[in-house]
Amino acid sequence: MEMQSSPGNVWGSISLSLLEEGNATADTYDMTVIIPTFNEEGNVAAIIDAVGGVFQKSGIRGEILVVDDSSSDRTIPIVEEIAGRNGNVRLIVRKEDHGLSQSVVEGFGSARSDILQVIDADFSHPPELIPRFYEAIRDGADIAIGSRYMKGGNIEQWPLKRRIISLGATAFGRILFPEVTDPVSGFFAVRRDVVSGAPLAPRGYKILMEVLGKGQWHSFVEIPFVFKDREEGESKLRLDTMVDYLRQCAGIVRFTVTRRAGPVWDEWLKILRFGFVGLSGIFVNTGLLYALTEIAGFYYLLSAAIAIEVSIVNNFIWNDIWTFKSARDLRFGRRISRFGSFQAVSMGGLVINMGILYLLAEVAGVYYLVANLVGIFVAFVWNYMVNRHITWMTR
Ligand code: GDD
Ligand code: MN
Repeated sequence: MEMQSSPGNVWGSISLSLLEEGNATADTYDMTVIIPTFNEEGNVAAIIDAVGGVFQKSGIRGEILVVDDSSSDRTIPIVEEIAGRNGNVRLIVRKEDHGLSQSVVEGFGSARSDILQVIDADFSHPPELIPRFYEAIRDGADIAIGSRYMKGGNIEQWPLKRRIISLGATAFGRILFPEVTDPVSGFFAVRRDVVSGAPLAPRGYKILMEVLGKGQWHSFVEIPFVFKDREEGESKLRLDTMVDYLRQCAGIVRFTVTRRAGPVWDEWLKILRFGFVGLSGIFVNTGLLYALTEIAGFYYLLSAAIAIEVSIVNNFIWNDIWTFKSARDLRFGRRISRFGSFQAVSMGGLVINMGILYLLAEVAGVYYLVANLVGIFVAFVWNYMVNRHITWMTR
């Protein structure tokens, strides 16, 4: 007995278990589908069956990992019985720190594959789409997100109140992740390395936000899906989940600001730089308008046209060498075509700015300087979004 606690034996057993883990991870399964459950006796057998059927049909060697928070109904015995018959079905019963996100993170840690999928037990997320998520990650994406808010996605049978809450949460999440149409989706897949070293602080319902904010990822894809409300059992969403959500957003912001790195940081840095460049353009524009009119004696509308064009060129150069420097292709032809695109987008922005100024000031009677600020803001969003996606084609 004494001998077993000697350092040699301890290390021996640790390295052996690491080896076993390693083998299982590399060879055993292509993918792990994590199903968090809490009192899902009406759904759990059917969802396991459905996911198993998807594996069979698609040829994915998949593992099903049910992570339960000590359900008081028959969920646990039902899953135990299924796991007894199927080698690829496992059950974790949690006893402490009750919570959906915590359960998912525990599933990440215990999975025996490199592609991790999360899906609800209540058929809100269509299991038939799992192979699409699998392929997306296998083909190089770090995260695959099931989206209800992109073309092809939708929500069925949700009462108006829930729709509004969800839209609010999503809009808030998009401030942090402007590129993700559904950052609070519960239906997603990740490559294991994205989360394995990440300092996730799971709490509440929105584990994907945590993964996006703190995981190590570079690329993602979105897969549209239609969210169906549960037919069995009831939703566990409560008011304090919303409070949790706000605290989670604050935590991601804190993490981002202290680290000065990560996806949220990268995105906001681009937005900030784009804003600075825009500001420099206003100075160039105003300065030139003044100089050409007052010093060179040009007719002021001609000065304005030249000033606008020069400021567009100014903004392009700074955005190309600074704001979007990571997305540049240095070949001359590419640079010219980026300029063409930027020019067109800027003209669009100008029309938007003027259009809003006119509508708000003339039609709605808003004070014209305020109307102009609104116009500038909308044009800025337009310019940033379109240029980011089209001119500099960054993901
Ligand atoms: N282990 C565990 N612990 N599982 C839980 C817990 C918990 O505390 N609470 C809920 N679950 C499980 C449920 O059993 C179900 O499988 C899944 O998590 C989703 O729970 P629901 O209660 O059905 O969630 P919902 O329909 O209100 O919320 C859905 O929409 C959100 C986005 O609006 C889910 O898809 C969420 O994942 C998603 O974030
Ligand atoms: Mn549900």
